[in-house]
Amino acid sequence: AARGRCGGSGDGAGRFGDAVMAVFVTRRIPVEGLRVLSQVGGCRVQQWDSEEPVPRAELLAGVAGKRGLLCLLSDHIDREVLEAAGPNLKVISTMSVGFDHLALEEIKKRGIRVGYTPDVLTDATAELSVALLLSACRRLPEAVEQVKNGGWTTWKPLWMCGYGLSDSTVGIIGLGRIGQAVARRLKPFGVKKFLYTGSGPKPESGAEFEAEFVPLTRLAEESDFVVVTCALTPATQGMCNKDFFTRMKKTSVFVNTSRGSVVNQEDLYNALAHGQIAAAGLDVTTPEPLPTDHPLLSLKNCVILPHIGSATYATRSTMAVLAANNLLAGLRGEAMSHELLL
Ligand code: NDP
Ligand code: DGY
Repeated sequence: AARGRCGGSGDGAGRFGDAVMAVFVTRRIPVEGLRVLSQVGGCRVQQWDSEEPVPRAELLAGVAGKRGLLCLLSDHIDREVLEAAGPNLKVISTMSVGFDHLALEEIKKRGIRVGYTPDVLTDATAELSVALLLSACRRLPEAVEQVKNGGWTTWKPLWMCGYGLSDSTVGIIGLGRIGQAVARRLKPFGVKKFLYTGSGPKPESGAEFEAEFVPLTRLAEESDFVVVTCALTPATQGMCNKDFFTRMKKTSVFVNTSRGSVVNQEDLYNALAHGQIAAAGLDVTTPEPLPTDHPLLSLKNCVILPHIGSATYATRSTMAVLAANNLLAGLRGEAMSHELLL
């Protein structure tokens, strides 16, 4: 594993107002993002320069006295981190659209501004969601394995069959930016009906797909495909549980590209192992990474990816630039492109 080290750049002589713009970046990020920061005179960057997460002690030390923090979804920015940072910390910019790793109440109390990266990753994540759905419902990893291990002996009418989207009902949990982008991509496959659930009906979001707002229970009962694209909140935590999976059809497929904790994984394992549902595709798990001996990995009908929803070169580069620009705008007291209003 790559060993991290804290590196610095900038001479610290430049100033915004009277304050040096000292920032801590918690990981190696696409070079375009770092360039945005390093080209600004007076921005003194300290970085955990590794592909691996910054150890907690290094995070606490690195953030001390900084005005800005550029972090990732794997960094838990809680009270301890904010206290280690001290009163100088004015801006947190996360290179993610999800913000469940940020202790927003504590952040708000301290008057710290928060930037995030919506929109720019919507297409990549929706595309991956569709790829994962098709992989799970048409059993692609299992089929590839059969080719490699000699299981492919001839063309067999009853072999390797799965479920298709044509004439199906698709239920989307959280018809937000990514949920709508998923529906937009699935519609041309011949989906008959879209259902969605959320904190309330959103006629303007559902109109394009003639999507019907329904309670979660009805979505579970009627969908052939369930796609989870909601944010992780106290209300959505553990929402896909035993009751939910029991209501789903035995022929239905479950896909989660939101956050692992929206799903009760033990209940999902039981549903998959006992044929309560047909298959699942997960891009997100609890924990991440999922231990290699986790029971879910023993199931043929569960396709698990390592949280790669936004992982295209272009998207990650754009996310890094946006996160860097959000940070700088916040430090300068200007409007950010994407600020989370607390
Ligand atoms: P949006 O804010 O646009 O959408 C979030 C959706 O969650 C909203 O439609 C909201 O619906 C819904 N939601 C909130 N509460 C509930 C609830 N109780 N039940 C059902 N739905 C609810 O965010 P994005 O679409 O941009 O991103 C969604 C999430 O996807 C992110 O928060 C992140 O966790 C995850 N993500 C994962 C990626 C990956 O790599 N796998 C990549 C990018 C994002 P309402 O408005 O009705 O409250
Ligand atoms: C996010 O942005 O929240 C994703 O999980 C990673 O891109």
